[in-house]
Amino acid sequence: MELTKEQQQILDGEKGDTLAKIMKTLVMYGETFGAEKMVPVTSKMGHLVTSFGLGVMKPVYELMDKLIADGAVSSQKFSVDPRPLDKNVPSDPIKNLVFKKFMYSAQESYDKQLEKLGLLNKNAYTCTCYLDEIGNTPEKGEVLSWAESSAVVYANSVLGARCNRNSGIIELFGSIVGYVPYFGLLTDEGRKATWVVEVKTSKTPEAQVLGSAIGMKVMEDVPYVKGLSEMIGTELNDENRAYLKDFGAATASNGAVGLYHIAGLTPEAKEQGESLIAENAKTYVIDDAELERVKNGYPVMWKDKNAVPKLCFIGCPHLTLAQLKEWTEKISAGLAAKGLKKVKVPTVLTAAPDVAEEFSKLPDAARLKATGAVLSYICPLMYMNNPLAGKMPVITNSNKLRTYTTARYYTSDEILRIITGGAAK
Ligand code: F3S
Repeated sequence: MELTKEQQQILDGEKGDTLAKIMKTLVMYGETFGAEKMVPVTSKMGHLVTSFGLGVMKPVYELMDKLIADGAVSSQKFSVDPRPLDKNVPSDPIKNLVFKKFMYSAQESYDKQLEKLGLLNKNAYTCTCYLDEIGNTPEKGEVLSWAESSAVVYANSVLGARCNRNSGIIELFGSIVGYVPYFGLLTDEGRKATWVVEVKTSKTPEAQVLGSAIGMKVMEDVPYVKGLSEMIGTELNDENRAYLKDFGAATASNGAVGLYHIAGLTPEAKEQGESLIAENAKTYVIDDAELERVKNGYPVMWKDKNAVPKLCFIGCPHLTLAQLKEWTEKISAGLAAKGLKKVKVPTVLTAAPDVAEEFSKLPDAARLKATGAVLSYICPLMYMNNPLAGKMPVITNSNKLRTYTTARYYTSDEILRIITGGAAK
């Protein structure tokens, strides 16, 4: 790899042993992927994927202590993924014991380490750091050092920023040293689409199922999606941004997509059109039958497949303010239509602390509370990682949560029907 004079000096230890080791790690990481140079991280802020103080992650805490002691803290402020615990989320004493003693026992000390390393503020725990309320919104063309897959795919695709799907710690190293290796989605060539996806459905597809279908088909490749902007619009707005957030998280978790282009809508597709499509790109046609096939293929991991759901998670990735309002309206109306006051399944809606704060100022907050649904800043995946939670019949409209846990997937309409007293089909 060709390094600049300054990069070479860091590697040679002129700024200390610790920074030299960090630079060496990044250089080795880049060389593995054929990178020939390092480029500056140009975003204003970073984002870390590891938010949870799992007791077994001792080497990470030792590493963090060493970084702090040597002054090798992040050159950027950063946000971090959601916290794993929230007392507002329904639990029980045994589950709590497992959470506190056997799982996230290091959470408090880890939070302190994050503060010392450059955490933006105490509210900056969310995977939707790019929303206005949080303020870690990269600009088009900026180079990032992030790892959270749902945030990376959003930043690349909807905002036009440039970031690879890095792993945890590598993204912190990039933020500390201020450089990342230049390869993959940082390059013009790596941003070309090797798949053309033709959406030919009779109505707007469920974002999380469409994303799942595309993710499973193209895996880590870049898809160019035609036929969708006709349904969700040709200008970015709050509604289609939220759609793309959920769609992207499904592409990134059901496959390993780090960037997609939506013809006529996302920034690069608008600017460059079909010149973004690589030669010999493959084609994938999605119609109603294909979406049904994909959805019906999800395995149900519950021991008793006919169990009555005991918990419902909505908001993975975290909900936007508009989505919170929409869910409040739908749940309230759904209950009223059935003459009910409270949800029939304990329901947790999740959102960033800053979004929840904004929501709490609205009359909707009291309306949501009245339905019995809970608003939390938690990461549902962290909750489901508790083996006792994993045994529960949990439902969700998140395809990411379905992929990584035993939670059962239902579309948003199905979820609404179930939590407002309808049968789970
Ligand atoms: Fe976000 Fe946790 Fe889901 S990080 S995307 S809420 S798994």
